[in-house]
Amino acid sequence: MIPLEDPTTLSQLFHLNSEPWLNDDAYKGAVTQELKVPDGIIAEISLPPHGGSALMDLLERRRSYRDFAQSEMPLEHASALLFAGYGAIAPARFSGQTAFLRRTVPSAGGLFPLEIYTFTQRVHGLEDGLYHYDVVAHSLQLLLRANLWSTLEPMFYAYPFMKDANLVVAMAAVFRRIQTKYGPRGYRYALLECGHVAQNICLRASELGLETLCMGGFLDSSLNELMALKPKEEGALYTVAAGFEAAKQ
Ligand SMILES: Cc1cc2nc3c(=O)[nH]c(=O)nc-3n(C[C@H](O)[C@H](O)[C@H](O)COP(=O)(O)O)c2cc1C
Repeated sequence: MIPLEDPTTLSQLFHLNSEPWLNDDAYKGAVTQELKVPDGIIAEISLPPHGGSALMDLLERRRSYRDFAQSEMPLEHASALLFAGYGAIAPARFSGQTAFLRRTVPSAGGLFPLEIYTFTQRVHGLEDGLYHYDVVAHSLQLLLRANLWSTLEPMFYAYPFMKDANLVVAMAAVFRRIQTKYGPRGYRYALLECGHVAQNICLRASELGLETLCMGGFLDSSLNELMALKPKEEGALYTVAAGFEAAKQ
C-alpha cells in the first residue's frame, strides 16, 4: 500500500511505467474514430451556426504536420511561440495569498510546474542546440551547443516526421512544485497544463504561417537525460515540433 501522505509515489509509479511502448501492432492498421451515442437521449437540439472569428480561423488551420521544410526560422518566430506557450504576463495573486507570475496559460494553484526547453536548428541568430526558456527574462539559456536532431532520432517515435522542424519544444514538469499541494492529483494537473501550453504554441504557429506536430511518443528516460533533468524529480511530458510547410518553399 502506498502511504497516502506520500504525494508522489503513486504517480511516479505510473509515470515511470508508462514509458515502455507495448503495443506496436496498433500502429499497423487503420483505426476507426469512435463516437459515443449516450443511452437515454431525451431530445436533440440543433445548434445555430458556430460563427467565424480570427480564433476560429486559427483553430481550423491547425493540423498535425509531418513534412517540415529545411528552411531557416526567424528568431522572432521562436520568440513568439515560446511566449505564447508559457510567457509571463504580469505579477498576480492566487486566493489573495500566493504571489505568482501570471502566464499565457492557467495553472492549478498558480504553481506553474512546467519548465520549457527547446531544441533548435536553423533558427536565425541562434546556435543549434538545446535551450531552456527563462520566462522571467524572456530569454533562452543555452544548455547544449550542437545540432541534436540525430541524437533525438532514436528517442522519438515521430521521427522522421520532425527531422526538418526548426524547433522541438519540450515541456518538463518539476513534480514537487504541484504535488506538494495536490498530491497524486497534481500529476494530472501537470499533464493538463501541457495541453494548454501546446495548444497556445500551435495556434500562435498557425497565426505565423508555421506548422506544428504535437508529440507524446518519445522515450522519457533518454530525453530526460539529454536535457539533464533530475531523475524522479523532473520529467519531460509533452513535445511540439514547429517549422515551415515543405510544400510552400
Ligand atoms: C497527446 C498527443 C500525443 C501525440 N503524439 C504524437 C506523436 O508522438 N507522433 C505523431 O506523429 N503525432 C502525435 N500526435 C498527433 C495526432 O496524431 C493528431 O493530433 C491526430 O491524428 C489528429 O490530427 P490533427 O492534429 O491534424 O487534427 C499526438 C497528439 C496528441 C494530442
